Amino acid sequence: MNYIKFAGPIIDDAMAEAVKQTLLSGWLTSGPRVAEFEAALSKYHGGRPTRVFTSATAAMEVAFEVCGIGAGDEVITSAMTFFSVGNMIEKVGAKTVFVDCDLTTRNINLDQVERAITPNTKAIVPTHFSGLPCDMDRLYAIANKHKLRVIEDAALAIGSTWRGLPVGAFGDIATFSFHPNKNMTTIEGGAAIFGDEREAQRAEIHRFHGISRLADGTRDITVAGGKFNMSDVSARLGLDQLAHLDEWCAHRQKLAAHYFAELESIAESLGLGLPAKAYTGGERGHSWNMFCVLLPLAKMSITRKQFIDAMHKENIGIGVSYEAMHLTTLFRGKARGHHEGEFAHAERISRETVTLPLHAGVTLADVERVCNALVRLLRESAK
Ligand SMILES: Cc1ncc(COP(=O)(O)O)c(C=O)c1O
Repeated sequence: MNYIKFAGPIIDDAMAEAVKQTLLSGWLTSGPRVAEFEAALSKYHGGRPTRVFTSATAAMEVAFEVCGIGAGDEVITSAMTFFSVGNMIEKVGAKTVFVDCDLTTRNINLDQVERAITPNTKAIVPTHFSGLPCDMDRLYAIANKHKLRVIEDAALAIGSTWRGLPVGAFGDIATFSFHPNKNMTTIEGGAAIFGDEREAQRAEIHRFHGISRLADGTRDITVAGGKFNMSDVSARLGLDQLAHLDEWCAHRQKLAAHYFAELESIAESLGLGLPAKAYTGGERGHSWNMFCVLLPLAKMSITRKQFIDAMHKENIGIGVSYEAMHLTTLFRGKARGHHEGEFAHAERISRETVTLPLHAGVTLADVERVCNALVRLLRESAK
């Protein structure tokens, strides 16, 4: 029985050969392939200014710097997102202001965002959870009304759309991840898409030591930059991956539809929480980076860890996304003072969520195997 990984990239022979040719080309670090990859990503996103980085985390840190976000500023984000968001807000010296998320879309609660705005608020960072776009009309109405920057955490959302436009093709700044678990990969890597070419140019300086080149051929540094430039080897892989993105997202959507077909009629009786159902045709084009469900732990005689181990024994990989960020040691600490009971949905998701296998290499038969094992385990462990 094959092992069904919960996430994973597709690297075919042609991609491996193209990477090999780049390795042998004599140019390894940022060069012509990075320029080509940035141009291709920009084209995919309606020609918007695009820069690539070593990760989405790096892209977000630089985006904050370019927006001038730092000490004294507040940045509103969801308690249900990946650690990198809170980490980067804190790293640039700003204060993370958490709000809760919706239980089924898992996206940031925009009512709570509005209530959390203070004179010190500088930006909103919404995550398009599992690739499902947030309500972009409402998000940008709030941001415009309060003159706030929006840095969209689109790490999981390359290939997602809103009213037919790719996420990143409109709005303020969007950051993407090309980690192997994402919809396409450059091994490690990320991108930021900007609404303003001057900000993209500043990001380019921030990502490479803060260096500006002078007319006499020497270099100057104008800001304390970082070292976040992507290699040509990664960019070459990214070019081929991007060419497959739409096909892979269409496959992901088919798999998600199959999960719903298998589970929808029995979810309620099992106590299983399914994610929000969203299709391609509507206003939200969901790229389905993840299919996350809530386990009925209160009705089960085994823990989530025992469930994951039992699925592993069935040769099925299961993930957990994410831990509620306000309850991590960093944010519980004296200085930040967060505690249980603040964000009910984020905390419940954090306790009960599991991610089922969903990626371009999964088949419809794999989905059926996963669902059969899941349902059997839930029935066997019912209290
Ligand atoms: C929601 C979300 N945001 C940001 C990131 C950071 O991406 P990267 O690993 O490219 O820095 C991740 C990574 O898993 C993520 O899941």
